[in-house]
Amino acid sequence: MSPLLLLIAGSIRHGSVSDAVVRTAATLTSENHVARAYDETHLLPHFNPALEGPHLPAAVARLRSTFAGADAFMFCTPEYAGALPGALKNLLEWAIGGCMYQKPAGWINTATAPTGAARAHDSLRTVLNYTGALTVPDACVRIPVDRASVTPAGLISDGTTRADIAKALETLSAAVTKR
Ligand SMILES: Cc1cc2nc3c(=O)[nH]c(=O)nc-3n(C[C@H](O)[C@H](O)[C@H](O)COP(=O)(O)O)c2cc1C
Repeated sequence: MSPLLLLIAGSIRHGSVSDAVVRTAATLTSENHVARAYDETHLLPHFNPALEGPHLPAAVARLRSTFAGADAFMFCTPEYAGALPGALKNLLEWAIGGCMYQKPAGWINTATAPTGAARAHDSLRTVLNYTGALTVPDACVRIPVDRASVTPAGLISDGTTRADIAKALETLSAAVTKR
């Protein structure tokens, strides 16, 4: 069976650059994997260990089962205030404990700023480490995307950018099959 790559945007804003990259990636077909977007980040409550147990919030239970069913994870996130967006950090806090354990992860860094959103990605690397995911260096790529290239439908139409996204997904799925 083809590996399932789960795609996660760091911004919960529809039409954001990271959301557009994730939605575009989900439309790119491959013989080697299936790619799907996770789109419930906005539904997750703030991480609270007191909520663990039989009455886990439904969105958290769905997150964990969706992540447990995935073979690898591809992130695309902006940098907010010098770090990972709070919504994505919150998602990853809920994901610590098993559903990402020992599975490959990568990211597509779309920053156009000279700083390259380095602090967000350093922070992503750190937090991924806590989830037990295996960050795959070759699947952590920089693909600058200008906000103007997001179409009104919230997708990326530029052929080169789409090809670069497809290549990053292939690299990630190859890491699944090599395990
Ligand atoms: C509140 C706020 C804080 C931001 N902080 C940073 C930052 O620290 N570093 C950076 O490179 N860009 C920063 N930006 C710019 C965003 O990363 C940039 O607009 C990005 O394209 C947003 O991505 P999105 O379209 O996926 O939401 C910030 C934007 C906002 C609104």
